[in-house]
Amino acid sequence: MPEQQTLLPNSPARFAGNHSLWADVSDSTSLPSARHEAGLRPEGTVRTDEKRRSDLPPSAEKPAADAATIMERVEQMIGQELVEVERILFEELASENAYIRDLLQHVSRFRGKRLRPILVLLSAKACGGITPAHRTIAAVVEMIHLATLIHDDVLDDATTRRHVATVNSRWNNETSVLFGDYLFTHAFHLASSLETTYACRTIGRATNLVCEGELTQVQNRGNVDLSEETYFRIIDGKTAELCAVSTELGAYYAGQSPANVAAIEQFGRLLGHAFQIADDVLDLLGSEAKTGKSLGSDLQKQKLTLPLIRLLATASPEDGQQIRALLAQPAVDTRQRLEPFFQQSDALEFTQARAFKLVADAISQLNCVADSPARQLLADMAQFAALRSA
Ligand code: IPE
Ligand code: IPE
Ligand code: MG
Ligand code: MG
Repeated sequence: MPEQQTLLPNSPARFAGNHSLWADVSDSTSLPSARHEAGLRPEGTVRTDEKRRSDLPPSAEKPAADAATIMERVEQMIGQELVEVERILFEELASENAYIRDLLQHVSRFRGKRLRPILVLLSAKACGGITPAHRTIAAVVEMIHLATLIHDDVLDDATTRRHVATVNSRWNNETSVLFGDYLFTHAFHLASSLETTYACRTIGRATNLVCEGELTQVQNRGNVDLSEETYFRIIDGKTAELCAVSTELGAYYAGQSPANVAAIEQFGRLLGHAFQIADDVLDLLGSEAKTGKSLGSDLQKQKLTLPLIRLLATASPEDGQQIRALLAQPAVDTRQRLEPFFQQSDALEFTQARAFKLVADAISQLNCVADSPARQLLADMAQFAALRSA
């Protein structure tokens, strides 16, 4: 799929500051002008905040670090642990079957961000220390995540994932369904090797809810009146649940009290909401080269996300009618055709403010444990969730 052309060139995302996803996404457009590099608006453009500010949610504080720096610090703090998690993961998945070995080799070519294992390990470290159970749980949540990605790529007809061909495009949908099942079942097989059934049961429940989230999304395909409430219900299930269980089990297996485990779980959940909101902006504005995955599928599959919900909620009746007509008949140029509507709207700024507010609320949950370098990095992971450009 070719790299997308100019999209929303005058959107506020282009001017949000050089540390931000909301600026990074603009790098994918064909207008990375010198003015933009310098943090200036292209001439003749109007900032959204000059158009409408009245009902935007309060933003979180401006992030202190950029996404790449945060990941470098993660690597320094728990890089060795992550290597061990990877070893556990592939040891569990190993097979004599040549077809499965090919699939495993394919999906191991590019590892992804490893957000969920990082959340398990950092929350463990911030809550008292990493134990062998944490390493196993980290491998389990990554395996479940990978299974959901492989199934999700079938649902979205995606051709690229983690910079390589999706399993459905390189092989076929049957292989994706079964290989996803292979990963799910191995995940629970591995989780059941822990001394207690607690993690297995908790991750089982979280995975049920991931499926519910994806099912609610499918149920609402084509629903141009999707409410913000239902949108948050969808992303809470499909994405936040696995982040929440990752931080919850990090805290639980580090011996924290039930109240603290609940707070750390909530941290992961709010981070997960911010992460999916950022992902939904990337689907509209991001770079396929940078994210390494097929984008634009939310529009193609008629899945309404927060920027569009806001766009529709604030559009004039005439514009609303035109936007709905565009959404009803997705085409290759739907994103470009939405561009003028976004330019007149605060939808992207509103979405950004929501994500940063979620990050601030997430970070406030961490006060239940003592300050430490691990707690600080965990807080930075929440910033990362909203700032990511890949
Ligand atoms: C992609 O997750 C699916 C979403 C929940 C948005 P990631 O962005 O964490 O995917 P990888 O693991 O880095 O490839
Ligand atoms: C998928 O959400 C979330 C999952 C549970 C896999 P998306 O459909 O937005 O994820 P991407 O953009 O394909 O990674
Ligand atoms: Mg998808
Ligand atoms: Mg997406």
